[in-house]
Amino acid sequence: MDKFIIFGGERLTGEVQVSGAKNAVLPLMAACLLARGQSIIHHVPALRDVRTMVRLLEDMGTKASLEDHTVSLDTSMLEKQEAAYDLVRTMRASVLVLGPLLARYGRARVSLPGGCAIGARPINLHLMGLERLGAKIELTGGYIHATCDRLVGNNIRLDMPTVGGTENLMMAAALAKGRTIIENAAREPEIVDLANFINQMGGVISGAGTDLIVIDGVEELQPIEYTVMSDRIEAGTLLAAGVITQGDILVKNCPVEGMHVVLDKLRATGADITVNGKDVRVQMSGPIQAIDIRTQPHPGFPTDMQAQVMALMTIANGRSTISETIFENRFMHVSELRRMGADIICEGSMAVIRGCDFLQSAPVMATDLRASACLVLAGLVAQGATEIRRIYHLDRGYEKIENKLEELGAKIKRVHS
Ligand code: UD1
Repeated sequence: MDKFIIFGGERLTGEVQVSGAKNAVLPLMAACLLARGQSIIHHVPALRDVRTMVRLLEDMGTKASLEDHTVSLDTSMLEKQEAAYDLVRTMRASVLVLGPLLARYGRARVSLPGGCAIGARPINLHLMGLERLGAKIELTGGYIHATCDRLVGNNIRLDMPTVGGTENLMMAAALAKGRTIIENAAREPEIVDLANFINQMGGVISGAGTDLIVIDGVEELQPIEYTVMSDRIEAGTLLAAGVITQGDILVKNCPVEGMHVVLDKLRATGADITVNGKDVRVQMSGPIQAIDIRTQPHPGFPTDMQAQVMALMTIANGRSTISETIFENRFMHVSELRRMGADIICEGSMAVIRGCDFLQSAPVMATDLRASACLVLAGLVAQGATEIRRIYHLDRGYEKIENKLEELGAKIKRVHS
């Protein structure tokens, strides 16, 4: 298992490029199942989750290649409509193949994802929505067995604006007969990217990015070539690295429209943030100011940036609070930060952080993707050499983060063991 050793205390400066968005490309790859033939996606991040999705699609009979940030997926010879447990358990987003398989083939057998480190993460809303479109769903042996004749459009109201649920239902409804309306839909930028993708395939979706999405089903969709959006969470993490190290970084190719709340919160820490088109410059000098954060569905503050901001708050001037409203167990990084000297008290979904003068290095363990990013940020400023174990979590969602940080002046190395 690889680990990182970070020698803290370097000020980060220079330019860095944001990679393609993991959370956008995974649903796009699933959406390729909606059309017969070869689709091509560019700006694909080189990540473990992307390779898992390639394997999952290959396992069904898709011809796939992944090179130079371009993935090509040819679904002409699909043999089976199945996502097996071994792959689904390593990546929850595998469940996104359910909607497209059902819509195009009338059947799907997909392993139930189970819980994960940050919470129970049920998929009841995905299944409720598919049933509203006419699917018959049975849960046996840990698998979802879904069948239908052609799906039929319907009104679906989501109790919660689930991102994956909205995506699964948009994909299913794209080939359904008639109109589907999703109320209380998730509004994340990745939903808009998926709607653009499906519309370019010949679909008819409007309202993506609002809480009311209207999908007029079509008979058939065509394979296409498309460039996926950039990763707003990676961009935010790199900007946070600029703040925590008192740095001066130009983060290039940011999906700025989807980042306003994160940029505002980073400004509130005292950082000077300037936006020029898709490039965002962060300049920090002076103490980090304490801030309060409440995670919320988009356009609120993203839960995927919560852990990184907590790293900043550990050395801020004063007392900060973080309220996590999306996932019930997303404070796993707290005990690791405490091992580095942070003063954090958690009560239920609320964390109170009292900024301390400095963090000290310690061996720490990554527990999930964003918790790992938080520990990297902490390691960048901690005194001494911080060892972060289990960075395979980080490899799921950050493309070569150590190279990017090293080019900005960080002292970080990957140790294979
Ligand atoms: C996606 C993102 C993830 C991000 C999350 C919230 C991808 C691949 N992953 O995950 O990085 O942290 O959005 O922004 O895009 N819920 C239900 N029933 C359901 C579905 C969800 O109760 O059927 C609950 C979940 O337990 C959670 C909340 O809704 O509390 C939000 O989950 P959801 O938006 O579905 O997250 P994901 O799509 O899994």
